[in-house]
Amino acid sequence: MTAEPQTRVLPAGPAAIDTAAECLAAGGLVAFPTETVYGLGADATHGEAVARLYAAKGRPAFNPLISHIPDAAAGRRLALFNADAERLAAAFWPGPLTLVLPKRPDCPVSSLALAGLDTIALRVPAHRTATALLTAFGKPVVAPSANRSGHVSPTLAAHVLADLRGRIDLILDDGPCRVGVESTVVALIDEPTLLRPGGLARTAIEAALGRPLKDAAAHIDEEAPLAPGMLASHYAPNAKLRLNAAAPRPGEALLAFGRAPDFTGTTFNLSPRGDLVEAAANLFSQLRALDAVGAAAVAVMPVPNEGLGEAINDRLARAAAPRP
Ligand code: TXA
Ligand code: MG
Repeated sequence: MTAEPQTRVLPAGPAAIDTAAECLAAGGLVAFPTETVYGLGADATHGEAVARLYAAKGRPAFNPLISHIPDAAAGRRLALFNADAERLAAAFWPGPLTLVLPKRPDCPVSSLALAGLDTIALRVPAHRTATALLTAFGKPVVAPSANRSGHVSPTLAAHVLADLRGRIDLILDDGPCRVGVESTVVALIDEPTLLRPGGLARTAIEAALGRPLKDAAAHIDEEAPLAPGMLASHYAPNAKLRLNAAAPRPGEALLAFGRAPDFTGTTFNLSPRGDLVEAAANLFSQLRALDAVGAAAVAVMPVPNEGLGEAINDRLARAAAPRP
């Protein structure tokens, strides 16, 4: 009988960060907090480590990963920055914005991590522990959300452990993630294009660019590139979600936003005061909590589609989509 590999959980701090950097250098898998969600990190230049990362998540290998770096200078060694890229990096890095750019010919990131593309997604997280780890390691770190593929993204170290215990080497625990939804992904290949709504609102990006973002013809997704107009099931809880519900029906739990209707059944409220930033931060942990209490069906109140509401509604739509 072979023992299950140990997953260590260490409170973030200087010694733990050195341990994590050594683990990455040895080709290991380290989950670490960012301001959006916990990421599962591997050395981006180490093909075998990247392959292990895909396996640990159970993620199809044809979808590319984001390379995380401590600052824009590190990004310029990997990708070609045009004027728009410089403008957005100056305005929003560090922060919850991922830029997809043409990769440099000498970019050392493994082609497995890039899924063979000649573009690369770059992100500079705004989180003390992420920054310290990326600085200590000194090479780009690929990091998808630290959950089993298709599960809800983790905003606590405990969520990571629940999904990936025994499948990864180390978890750096630095408490809850402040933003709670993944980064906004913008491609700067042709016209600036919004590939994934996320923790930075579209309007802020458009203001910095001085022009509107184009919308991607199809939603991108970590599981599979989609046909235009289709939504894949993703970020999925076990519970069946009914969106834009005014009130729960018999047998349903309630996921509220703002003032909730009178209801004595299981209720979680994304933000009782109707604050979209607070709602984003609570979204994934409340979806996990609904599963934990065994809710089979959930009425979800409408969330306004402005600011971070665009990302919240995108994740809710995926969570509610028919399962493959
Ligand atoms: O907030 C986040 O972005 C988190 C934290 C851990 O940083 N990471 C994250 O990674 O959400 P992941 O792998 O779950 O999502 C990466 C997204 C995918 O939708 C992927 O298709 C897209 O970025 N992507 C990566 N490289 C790309 C490329 N070259 N072109 C187009 N899309 C790309
Ligand atoms: Mg993910």
